[in-house]
Amino acid sequence: MSIMPELHPLNLHVHPDAKTASQELAQEIAACIRERANQGQRCVLGLATGSSPLPLYAELVRLHQEDNLSFGNVVTFNLDEYCGLSPDSPLSYFDFMQKNLFSHIDIPAEQTHIPNGLLGKEEIAAHCQQYEQHIEDEGGIDFQILGIGRTGHIGFNEPPSGLNSKTRLVVLDEITRQDAASDFGGIENVPSQAITMGIATIMKARRIVLMAWGSKKAEIIQKALTSPPSPNIPASFLKTHPQASFLLDTTAAALLTPADS
Ligand code: F6R
Repeated sequence: MSIMPELHPLNLHVHPDAKTASQELAQEIAACIRERANQGQRCVLGLATGSSPLPLYAELVRLHQEDNLSFGNVVTFNLDEYCGLSPDSPLSYFDFMQKNLFSHIDIPAEQTHIPNGLLGKEEIAAHCQQYEQHIEDEGGIDFQILGIGRTGHIGFNEPPSGLNSKTRLVVLDEITRQDAASDFGGIENVPSQAITMGIATIMKARRIVLMAWGSKKAEIIQKALTSPPSPNIPASFLKTHPQASFLLDTTAAALLTPADS
């Protein structure tokens, strides 16, 4: 007999636009970084790529440049990387992170981590295990940011992805590959596999914020928030995390009713 986990009160924040929402999120992350720095400790961030975190990264860069926010005590672990892309490829998540965040802040390169998408089949399992171990060795993730795919994926945990899943090799959903097709100049060029942190890896983070902007995300946001936690909508598991928030703009929240929150 399966027992449905009790839902924690949902932490739902709807802002007029992605920019103001991201500014609020950047303030919370900056406070976490500064608090840790004051204690002489590192702050461990779990990072995402894609369009959703772009306004957040722009604001973190601004806080670094204009508000003396240092990333010297920050350690980062990215959620995922495509298989078969070299870090030099302009389409790799490695390159995305350099362009949109790392090259603009004072984080030491050795404190940033992204799964390696170029390993041979026989090396991947050990690499994934090391990635998990490395996160543990840094004391776990303090603050995990997420986007959501139209399949309900977080990281590249496509449905079905179970609550116990860890960092691993996954096959990308057709919808996810379609959504990436324009970046790659056609779906046939989009990698079919990726390495991603698992749901269990993500759920261990002490604080989680999922961002979703725009009407394209409204349907999956409604499903994730209204369905019981299920491997078929991986983002729905976040509702069982005591410190997970959904940060939305009004268009992504358009299909929610007051009862959904
Ligand atoms: C990216 C990632 C994905 C994206 C999701 C949404 O590192 O893990 O889960 O967050 O596909 O992508 P965007 O933000 O481009 O809509």
